[in-house]
Amino acid sequence: MHASTHLHKILYWYMCPRSLGQASPSMNAFAEGQAAAYKMFQTIERKPEIDAYDTNGKRLEDIHGEIHLRDVYFSYPARPEELIFNGFSLHIASGTTAALVGQSGSGKSTVISLIERFYDPQAGEVLIDGTNVKEFELRWIRGKIGLVSQEPVLFASSIKDNIAYGKDGATVEEIRGAAELANAAKFIDKLPRVLDSSHFYYFKVIL
Ligand SMILES: Nc1ncnc2c1ncn2[C@@H]1O[C@H](COP(=O)(O)OP(=O)(O)OP(=O)(O)O)[C@@H](O)[C@H]1O
Ligand SMILES: [Mg+2]
Repeated sequence: MHASTHLHKILYWYMCPRSLGQASPSMNAFAEGQAAAYKMFQTIERKPEIDAYDTNGKRLEDIHGEIHLRDVYFSYPARPEELIFNGFSLHIASGTTAALVGQSGSGKSTVISLIERFYDPQAGEVLIDGTNVKEFELRWIRGKIGLVSQEPVLFASSIKDNIAYGKDGATVEEIRGAAELANAAKFIDKLPRVLDSSHFYYFKVIL
């Protein structure tokens, strides 16, 4: 009896630290998971300064597309110390074609980001048809702008879905029209049907 209790004690002192040692990697995983979840919830709960779903704001009867950047000062939130625009101004008259030319990193894409209102400048104004873009209902004004960016993001879906993503409830005719306007309809039609596994097949079938 005495010997057996003794044995239990030895076993206890032997097993206990071992089990704790085995549990510690899991504890690390729990802690890491908790930290990651905290970050994720923080991101989900963050109220963006520019709210894309805000339905307040102005709509215009008719939009002409005159673009004005007036004395704009801008730095990206991630790098506030680096001033991208330092009193930059630009005027593009409605109905004209303009090209922004400059070396890589000179701020061409940033101009577009400000017009689309992905960011607001720290000072100065961005105007469309004489109205500050901050005054527009965001989804409405973005709906008036067509943008094909340098590095387009395609969703793993049909070409049709990718085009339709730009407009809620777009009809097949509108999607086809957009493809034609973008000079993409012809090359899409030429795509071989063998590209079955990708987006292209569905475009030919659905459109
Ligand atoms: N999201 C961002 N956060 C921080 N800095 C950024 C961000 N996007 C761009 N930048 C910086 O802003 C500057 C202007 O970048 P922008 O992309 O507007 O240049 P670009 O003229 O379009 O260049 P490219 O010809 O390479 O497309 C660069 O120094 C770039 O590193
Ligand atoms: Mg660019």
